[in-house]
Amino acid sequence: MHLELTEEQRMIQAMARELAESEIASVADEIDREARFPHETVKRMGELGLMGIAIPEQWGGSGSDTIAYVVALEEIAKVCASHAVVMSVDNSLYGEPVLRSGTDAQRERFLKPVASGHAHGCFALTEPEAGSDARNQHTLARRDGDHYVLNGRKLFITNGREASFALVFCQTDAARAHHGITAFVVEKGTPGFTVAKTEDKLGLRASDTAELVFEECRVPVANRLGDEGMGFTIAMATLDGGRIGIAAQAVGIAAGAFERSLAYARERKAFGARIGDHQMVQWMLADMATAIDAARLLTHRAAWLKDREEPYGVAAAMAKLFASDTAMRVTTDAIQVHGGYGYIKEYRVERYFRDAKITQIYEGTSQIQKLVIARDVLGGHDDRA
Ligand code: CAA
Repeated sequence: MHLELTEEQRMIQAMARELAESEIASVADEIDREARFPHETVKRMGELGLMGIAIPEQWGGSGSDTIAYVVALEEIAKVCASHAVVMSVDNSLYGEPVLRSGTDAQRERFLKPVASGHAHGCFALTEPEAGSDARNQHTLARRDGDHYVLNGRKLFITNGREASFALVFCQTDAARAHHGITAFVVEKGTPGFTVAKTEDKLGLRASDTAELVFEECRVPVANRLGDEGMGFTIAMATLDGGRIGIAAQAVGIAAGAFERSLAYARERKAFGARIGDHQMVQWMLADMATAIDAARLLTHRAAWLKDREEPYGVAAAMAKLFASDTAMRVTTDAIQVHGGYGYIKEYRVERYFRDAKITQIYEGTSQIQKLVIARDVLGGHDDRA
């Protein structure tokens, strides 16, 4: 594994950093306060090719790789985690499976607009009774001539309201349990497809988290991704890749909170000295710096394995587990370093603290990552990705 970035990876990283600092930083607090989706800056991300970094140029992407994707995502998350999650869903949860399992006609129609930043996608797996237990799908799709008819509800769907395309997982043959799950791309505006509500959240307040409802929604057979019964495999393989992005998001959140803590430790005085001169604060900063580096290295290793087309599912689970715990610990300590000022909005670390929490929950809770890792270390369970 190379620790140095290639010139292309460095350029994409620098471009993401420049966008984050010059355009996203100035709106990040306001959109969090108002829980407002940042259309303008998200559009800029698309114009710069950040919504399809590892997608081939032929399908509207930037034709780069997963390392470039994670370094860019970290830069965006360092400034605003809400922008980062929009980027991660378009790139990995939506873009990847359509690239991997779609036909050329599907890539042209459903992938190109998203990878080129002209539209958004979403990944609709979670249901009221299918969170960690993702096999327990209740949304049904019954075949009717050259259509399927969808009925059911999807919950907590990132980009759900904004997305033009939803990748929806349904049961086409309930008797076959998870072997009867099938994936479909459902276009916004399809009769019977509605967005029921947008969630009011603790963190990532500017991202769009919605409930999708399907009532006698007729979807052409041409919108089926892969064969009938392939849906669960598609979902699981997608999440293996998605978890690398969430690890990168968590590293970015931690790094952003750390930078603010460092600046504060250099300037705030107590007991006649800068607080950074006090050993108790130094220890906190040293622990933060070490954990962030370790989380970043785990994340890059998972991305590197993926780019080499080697098994990476367990490496991705380890990266997400460690990076999300790091984000939570670092943002907690960042508030501690700031003392009372950390608890108020002006110093911003409270936003990082609120945003960090979800990284331990979505795309598989920390407990699910431990399950994936434990099965691997105990043996007898393939790392399929
Ligand atoms: N790749 C391909 N196939 C896989 C796989 C993988 N990584 N993992 C499992 N499978 C296959 C298995 O081979 C098995 O197939 P067979 O029955 O043919 O042998 C099948 O899937 C079932 O596998 P398991 O027996 O391992 O299933 P399980 O129910 O015991 O455990 C789980 C699966 C790991 C718990 C899984 O359900 C899981 O990851 N749950 C978490 C779901 C999740 O991450 N949800 C996130 C929602 S999206 C989101 O959060 C987006 C957002 O907001 C940004």
